[in-house]
Amino acid sequence: MAFPPRYEPVPTNDEEPLAHRRKPFGTKRLIIYILSFIALMYAAFSAARLARSRGFWMTCYGPRRNQSELARLPTHYTLPSGDKIPSVALGVWQAGRGEVGNAVKTALYAGYRHIDGAWIYGNEAEVGQALAESDVPRDQLWLTSKASCALLWNNYHAPEDIESVLDDSLSKLGTDYLDLYLIHWPVAFKKTGNNVLDEELTADPYPTWQKLEELVDKGKIRNIGISNFNIRRIENLTSNPLKYQPAVNQVELNFWNPQPELLKWSKENDLLLEAYSPLGSSTQVAKSLAVPEVKDIACKLGITPAQVLISWHVQRGTIVLPKSVTPVRVVENLHVFELPREDFDKLENAAASHPQKRVVNPSKGWKLPFDVFDGE
Ligand SMILES: NC(=O)c1ccc[n+]([C@@H]2O[C@H](COP(=O)([O-])OP(=O)(O)OC[C@H]3O[C@@H](n4cnc5c(N)ncnc54)[C@H](OP(=O)(O)O)[C@@H]3O)[C@@H](O)[C@H]2O)c1
Ligand SMILES: *[C@@H]1O[C@H](CO)[C@@H](O)[C@H](O)[C@H]1NC(C)=O
Ligand SMILES: *[C@@H]1O[C@H](CO)[C@@H](O)[C@H](O)[C@H]1NC(C)=O
Repeated sequence: MAFPPRYEPVPTNDEEPLAHRRKPFGTKRLIIYILSFIALMYAAFSAARLARSRGFWMTCYGPRRNQSELARLPTHYTLPSGDKIPSVALGVWQAGRGEVGNAVKTALYAGYRHIDGAWIYGNEAEVGQALAESDVPRDQLWLTSKASCALLWNNYHAPEDIESVLDDSLSKLGTDYLDLYLIHWPVAFKKTGNNVLDEELTADPYPTWQKLEELVDKGKIRNIGISNFNIRRIENLTSNPLKYQPAVNQVELNFWNPQPELLKWSKENDLLLEAYSPLGSSTQVAKSLAVPEVKDIACKLGITPAQVLISWHVQRGTIVLPKSVTPVRVVENLHVFELPREDFDKLENAAASHPQKRVVNPSKGWKLPFDVFDGE
């Protein structure tokens, strides 16, 4: 032998324990294999179904529609002042430090011209910085903010305090006027802090409104509006001799809380609604995007479920304020399309056919002795 074998052959030892030997392919083993295979397939299918129901992916069958053949929806609405407000805005609530600036820049680059913010979101300085670094002229931008204050939250309704908190928003955003300023909540707290309700100012927001009217005349705000007002509260406010009518009412509108009666009433009374949490907010967005009607329409039209919902809002005649800090989503959310009549109706009916459920209601959190939306 020229070379020794690389490995010593393993001697077969008949006295070796049986366990070390290969068993014949028995029935028992076969059953175990089959059962494991079934269990594995079951686990895989369940995981896939769960992922699908959570909207992680979507399979569309049949031919895809060509997006550029879909009709577009209005890009603007005209307010009582004559100003034209863009129908889709970037919302920046819960857009964190270090991400909101990039979201704003992505949005402006993609073609957004409307940013919906608020003093209380705590990110106006970063938004302002992003606006300053972009080259969109101020007169082509629509900036909305809302009157409120952090520690003495909602306290800055006190007419004498509104101007200082507005000035703070203006300086953080780096501008000398806002296109739209809203009373954030129909709730006013006393200046002493700790959420002590100012009952008088909460029941009757007219003095607050008069102050806002004054700030319009001063040139610091171009339009004024309300947020989270129900019909009862709107009627209470507008029964006063107002110099400027509310330009908009910003409220929660989404698949889970579509508020068809409020929408109808608002149209009859020429009050434009702005849809906040239009996708159901961060807690409900996955569920919203997985609604079968939403997915079916998305497949049929070759657009995304988020685009179906955002389009639905504009087609209902409201402004829509989707929030995202994810660049592809920011871009996606700006593109709205007219849904064919039967699809629009299908979605509208599906949204109205379950009990309405709000995502946003701080009444308990603020320990209010009533529900903010009571009497709807
Ligand atoms: N007046 C008020 O009292 C009030 C109250 C609530 C909200 N608002 C306004 O309304 C805006 C929007 O409301 P919102 O932030 O509650 O809820 P939203 O816009 O309904 O949902 C935001 C969530 O959806 C995700 N998302 C956005 N686009 C998506 C897409 N194309 N596909 C998948 N997921 C997507 C976002 O994730 P990522 O960001 O991680 O991408 C985020 O988690 C706020 O930013 C604020 O301007 C006002
Ligand atoms: C979609 O339609 C447009 C306009 O009708 C056309 O220019 C384009 O080539 C079409 N795209 C596809 C993928 O069919
Ligand atoms: C609004 O409601 C408050 C509290 O009930 C009341 O004092 C006020 O007079 C009402 N305003 C109008 C114009 O009706």
